[in-house]
Amino acid sequence: MNGVYMNILESIVNKLKSGQRVVVFTGAGVSAESGIPTFRDKLDGLWNRFSAEDLDCADGFKASPQLVWEWYAWRRKMIVDAKPNLAHHAIALMETLVPEFTLITQNVDGLHQRAGSTKVIELHGNIHRSRCFDEDIAIDKWAETDEVPPPCPHCGGMLRPDVVWFGEGLSGDTYGKAKEAIRNCTMLFSIGTSSQIYPAAVFPYEAAHRGAMVVQINPNPTDLDQVTSFILRGKAGECVNGCRLS
Ligand code: OAD
Repeated sequence: MNGVYMNILESIVNKLKSGQRVVVFTGAGVSAESGIPTFRDKLDGLWNRFSAEDLDCADGFKASPQLVWEWYAWRRKMIVDAKPNLAHHAIALMETLVPEFTLITQNVDGLHQRAGSTKVIELHGNIHRSRCFDEDIAIDKWAETDEVPPPCPHCGGMLRPDVVWFGEGLSGDTYGKAKEAIRNCTMLFSIGTSSQIYPAAVFPYEAAHRGAMVVQINPNPTDLDQVTSFILRGKAGECVNGCRLS
């Protein structure tokens, strides 16, 4: 690791130790080193005829509910088989060292919680939960059946994954909590997100506008580069590996 990079890491860690109110804001890139493809990656094998935009939307589900349910079952299995990586673990450790800490994630894979994070706002839901498509209520149990998707035990309508699809709004409560953390933070880490999906994409800009230090970890340039105080240009797991937080 070169000297300039070490100096950057040292300044960030020193700043962290001086009682900052920290938000970590993550996207698909933080799970890439766990083997979960990002939204910009080409879909694998069976699914390569589709794009995430075709499958992750209410219109796609209404047109082909079985296909979309199976796509989510495939992703769920991949996620269950994956393990949190060094970046997930470093973020979980940071939570124990920083008194005021919030993790805001756009990811639905639950890998942050599996690494030990507890102060997590899941902006886009969680792939391991389901809800009724018609009634919009959470459903945890349903009878085994050959129907795909399984029917809702209340109304007989279709179950869907409890995630926010393209074109859908965020839950007001979740969004409100995330906005409050952004308003209060003095330091924000944006890790593994292309910062292109609104309204989440504005969070780092809002934090920067209010005077927070913004640190970005991403192997590729993003629009956020303009307002970032420090850019660590690399993979999340590799970047945090050079950083001793304790
Ligand atoms: P994207 O797929 O848009 O962006 C992934 C980002 O991760 C890119 O900027 C990559 O350069 C970066 N990246 C790739 N590998 C990385 C690594 N090893 N370490 C760090 N960064 C890496 O994913 P998001 O920004 O999360 O929303 O996309 C936001 C939302 O778009 C998702 O939550 C999803 C999607 O639509 C919904 O499903 C509603």
